[in-house]
Amino acid sequence: MSAREIFSSRNPYFAISVGVVAGIFVLTAVGGFIILPYAQPELKFAGIWDVICSAAGLPQRSASSDAVQPVRRLSEVVLTPTTLAHPTQESIGRGATLAQRCAICHGPTGVSRADSPNLAGQYGIVIYKELVDFRSGARTNAVMAPFAVNLTDREIVDLAAYYAFLPRLPAYHPQQQLRKPRVVIYGAPIRGVAPCGSCHGSLDNKAGSPWLEGQSETYLKFQLHAFASGQRTNDISQQMRNIARAMTPQEIDEAAAYYASQPSEIVKATD
Ligand code: HEC
Ligand code: HEC
Repeated sequence: MSAREIFSSRNPYFAISVGVVAGIFVLTAVGGFIILPYAQPELKFAGIWDVICSAAGLPQRSASSDAVQPVRRLSEVVLTPTTLAHPTQESIGRGATLAQRCAICHGPTGVSRADSPNLAGQYGIVIYKELVDFRSGARTNAVMAPFAVNLTDREIVDLAAYYAFLPRLPAYHPQQQLRKPRVVIYGAPIRGVAPCGSCHGSLDNKAGSPWLEGQSETYLKFQLHAFASGQRTNDISQQMRNIARAMTPQEIDEAAAYYASQPSEIVKATD
């Protein structure tokens, strides 16, 4: 028998072996690409083509359309210690005019009579960042956000310059000054909580950490719970969420009461 006759379809042995190989190929393809993927209960497929693509390792359309979308916008503000470092007189002046619309809640002197935060003497960088976050939706509040959404970049810079320029006045909720609670002095090292003053002033100020002294107790408590529950998510790298989550409700109460009881113009030496 010549080679040509061996590899001819007329040779029954050759025809059968080719048929068997092709049959095995089809069976394994059906098994591997269709039956096995279907046999995995945790995978859901839109159709047979989806199953084949999934087995071949291609991204599945049905899975990617269900992909978890970020629920919240995150803060897009980049802060450096020199952001807004040298405001001009003109900028402060323009800020003063703009601030008239804020006075109803934040007080004509930047000190609130209600439970809105005091803005007088707040770090300019904080005013700036919070306004940008309210504008973008990274920080949400039904009362405050409408006043930020239409501000331009320059108006935000001017407002920040103005409020940072205002003196820190005594807060509107004078109380007996409380002693510093443990969590404020030492934090809670085992739970990864640094002393509050290491970011918020008194010990050191990390760019973007607000001045807390003299804010209303209700406001402070509300913010701490909002960070702990994930309702407020605009802190960069979760700095403040990590801390608030690790605090006990009692520590939150104590810290809020303590900061609220401090005169807002407190100076370093009294620590
Ligand atoms: C109707 C009341 C109201 C008006 C008007 C208002 N705010 Fe507010 N503002 C609030 C409240 C309430 C909060 C606290 C929001 C929260 O609990 O998250 C706030 C928060 C802020 C904060 C964040 C402060 C911090 O320490 O985190 C800034 C900055 C601010 N407002 C600036 C402004 C400016 C500037 C204007 C004017 C353009 C303005 N607000 C107008 C009620 C108001
Ligand atoms: C690692 C630095 C860091 C430490 C330590 C820290 N914080 Fe903060 N905290 C921040 C930053 C940054 C923000 C501002 C988040 C933002 O809006 O971008 C903030 C925001 C807050 C606010 C909201 C204030 C406002 O007006 O918006 C409160 C209240 C607060 N911190 C309380 C505390 C208390 C109480 C402690 C101590 C138990 C503490 N923080 C420790 C970094 C810190």
